[in-house]
Amino acid sequence: MILEIKPLTPTIGAEIFDLDLSSGYEGIVDDVMRAFVQHHVLVIRDQQLTPADIVRFARCFGPVGAYPFAKPLDGHPEVIAIIKEPDQKTVFGGIWHTDSAYLASPSMASVLYAIEVPKVGGDTLFSNQHAAFEALSADMQNRLRPLNAVHSSVKNHSKLRSSHLQSGSMNQQDKKHFEATHSVVRKHPVTGRESLYLSPAHTTHIEGLAVDESDSLLQQLFEHALSDDFKCRVRWQPGTLAIWDNRCTLHYPINDYHGYRREMLRVTIESDG
Ligand code: SIN
Repeated sequence: MILEIKPLTPTIGAEIFDLDLSSGYEGIVDDVMRAFVQHHVLVIRDQQLTPADIVRFARCFGPVGAYPFAKPLDGHPEVIAIIKEPDQKTVFGGIWHTDSAYLASPSMASVLYAIEVPKVGGDTLFSNQHAAFEALSADMQNRLRPLNAVHSSVKNHSKLRSSHLQSGSMNQQDKKHFEATHSVVRKHPVTGRESLYLSPAHTTHIEGLAVDESDSLLQQLFEHALSDDFKCRVRWQPGTLAIWDNRCTLHYPINDYHGYRREMLRVTIESDG
């Protein structure tokens, strides 16, 4: 079977049509992997999936793991529901981030499946952090390569998680504080391409720099990382599944649909080392 893969932009994102993830797709896994590494965000349209189907697909990419701040779906320990009700004002994950950067081994990829979405709005933006790094001057690239940054789950905790996980989902883990240090410049394990690995949501400071210097460098890099040149926008429909590479992208769900309900299922794929 030849996959129909349509890039969303020249830099990031591609849509795949005519693929049914509820049946056998083993023959095309290599093509999907190649497209994933090339486009960083894949959007697979028109699916009708159970939680078990989503987990089965996610497992093609690596072991799936639990998300430390949410109670999973009954019977599906790897799947969490992300819901915004019509009367809620904040949105889960509503600051640019890459998933679980505050863990020593952060998630390599995440899968999100749309169950219910507003007629218009509730899109998700993604930004390619290879492109962001490669667009920096050689001097800046050399300055950043030896640096490490600290990522914390506490920074922006209430804005990021609020109450959008499955009802009653916040457990004792919610009170936990995870913190990890990672290189500011990360090499993709498959392609060797370098990317920026920082986010406004979780990165607190760059090690070894004075507070003012760290704050101002981070501010400058956040602005650069989120330039429109590196972005794509995913419009959801019920039955849309997206998978993104947390090693080299940031994402941001747009909170522009007050009064409407949005329900998604998410599976987190663990670190690949
Ligand atoms: C997330 O940050 O994982 C959620 C993204 C979304 O709801 O679009």
